[in-house]
Amino acid sequence: MANQKFIYAATTCVILLLGRWLFQAIQWRRKYKLPPQVPGIPIFGNTFQIPASQQGPWAKGLAEKYGEITWVFLNSSRVVIDLMERRAAIYSSRPPFPMTQGIMSRDSRIVLMPYNDQWRSVRKIMHQILSARSLDVFMPFQDLESKNLCWDYLESPDRWWSANGRYANSVIMSVVFGRRSSLDDPHVVELFETLELFLENQQPGVNLVDAFLVLDKLPKFLQWWRPRGNAIYEKTAHVYRREVDLLEEKIKNGTEKRCFGTDFLLTDEVKKMTEVQKLFVFGTLMEAGSDTSRVTIGQIIAGAVTSPDWVARARAELDVVCGHNAERLPTFEDRPKLKYISAVVKEGFRWRPNIAEIGAPTMLIKDDEYEGYKFPAGTVFTWNAWAIALSEREYEQPERFWPERFLNGEEESALKGHWGFGPGRRVCVGWKVGEMNVWIAIARLLYCFDFNEVPGKPIDTMTIPQITKNSAPFQVTVTPRSEKHAALVRRDCEAAVKTQY
Ligand code: HEM
Repeated sequence: MANQKFIYAATTCVILLLGRWLFQAIQWRRKYKLPPQVPGIPIFGNTFQIPASQQGPWAKGLAEKYGEITWVFLNSSRVVIDLMERRAAIYSSRPPFPMTQGIMSRDSRIVLMPYNDQWRSVRKIMHQILSARSLDVFMPFQDLESKNLCWDYLESPDRWWSANGRYANSVIMSVVFGRRSSLDDPHVVELFETLELFLENQQPGVNLVDAFLVLDKLPKFLQWWRPRGNAIYEKTAHVYRREVDLLEEKIKNGTEKRCFGTDFLLTDEVKKMTEVQKLFVFGTLMEAGSDTSRVTIGQIIAGAVTSPDWVARARAELDVVCGHNAERLPTFEDRPKLKYISAVVKEGFRWRPNIAEIGAPTMLIKDDEYEGYKFPAGTVFTWNAWAIALSEREYEQPERFWPERFLNGEEESALKGHWGFGPGRRVCVGWKVGEMNVWIAIARLLYCFDFNEVPGKPIDTMTIPQITKNSAPFQVTVTPRSEKHAALVRRDCEAAVKTQY
């Protein structure tokens, strides 16, 4: 009898719960209207459909099939501008990432922070160091380090990829920590390793808990991903802390060189931060400042090898300004006369968006309506970088590396005409520094070196891997344009290599 009562009560409960769920689902469907959804599997939805790498081509296919907006992906500049830029106040937050932000970054990585006061205060600090006003601080280092880059290309051509990494890293290390990095610097290698660990784990589907937030509610001892996340955090914090300790040691001994770090460590802002927050400000600058430029320079080299026609036009411009016989290296002062180089750099950012192939996800913080759709707060959006960059509706001959498309009087507006740095309020805070890193490096490399395919190793520019464990993502032969160009590099760049601080 008691058993029967229990079964009756349990069945009633289940029916009531199901009824409530059904009622809520109907209400939800009445209230919201979402764009066409990509069919997924029950419970897991599309989680396992997103490839771990080469997401760009995959998402481009979806954009062609599903139109201007799909669930999550914004597939045209028009909708990106309408939502991410014009309605930035509600489209600039991030969804929670319990593994990559919570455990691996102790909630301190700016790029994954929700749109809140913590984000605002870290962004302000980053802005102070990376904004247009600080460019005079960066320029001498970019000049020196790009001379070192040319030297490395001449002396160790097969290490061109490591040379790109050293170059970009050394610019930011000089400004932030007052020290240079060398080609074989084990600290640089380790920094790139931690960055790749972060990028790997940030790929959709790699950490189930980042897609199914309910898993985060499991008791900590049942969270099987937690020990791995903690180990990655420890490694990352160690790499960051090593540099900060070194700087603090120099300050204590009075041997420091004045830099952003020495000033920052004395500010009130830093006193309000926890130790971990402080480490992640320094660490993010090192990581974000290094990888992005090395990748973009590599990408433009791939463009030079696979469609050499534009290289001839870039050289013609460089030769007029710097001499047909390797008279001198291009400099920042030449910029007004080197519009084509600025267009090459913009085309490099557009051509194969590689830092964020499918954009970076942002979370809507308030219900919103757009062109007949009704989105609930919490909807995740991303600008579909590859799909937009390679869409014929956006660009003529989109797959061609064709700098001429940017010879439109806006060569110096580095953000205009592409989404390489992202849209709206989460736009890359280091865009100007990054653009200048790439500009001076590319101007000098194109003036001094030829880039050719390695026989039997063609470059497939649609599938250049993003995460390469510190090895070059494709092969290329690097040779000086002529003996005179080699002599110019020897003459003008040796002093840069010998400079120490
Ligand atoms: C050279 C080229 C660079 C490219 C292509 C690039 C690209 C990007 C992209 C696509 C984003 C995400 C934007 C979004 O979420 O909508 C981003 C964010 C960011 N970048 Fe860059 N970046 C570059 C250079 C740099 C440099 C030199 C630094 C600093 C030294 C830097 C620091 C950051 C930071 C801190 C964020 C996070 C901003 C936030 O969430 O508010 N970037 N970058």
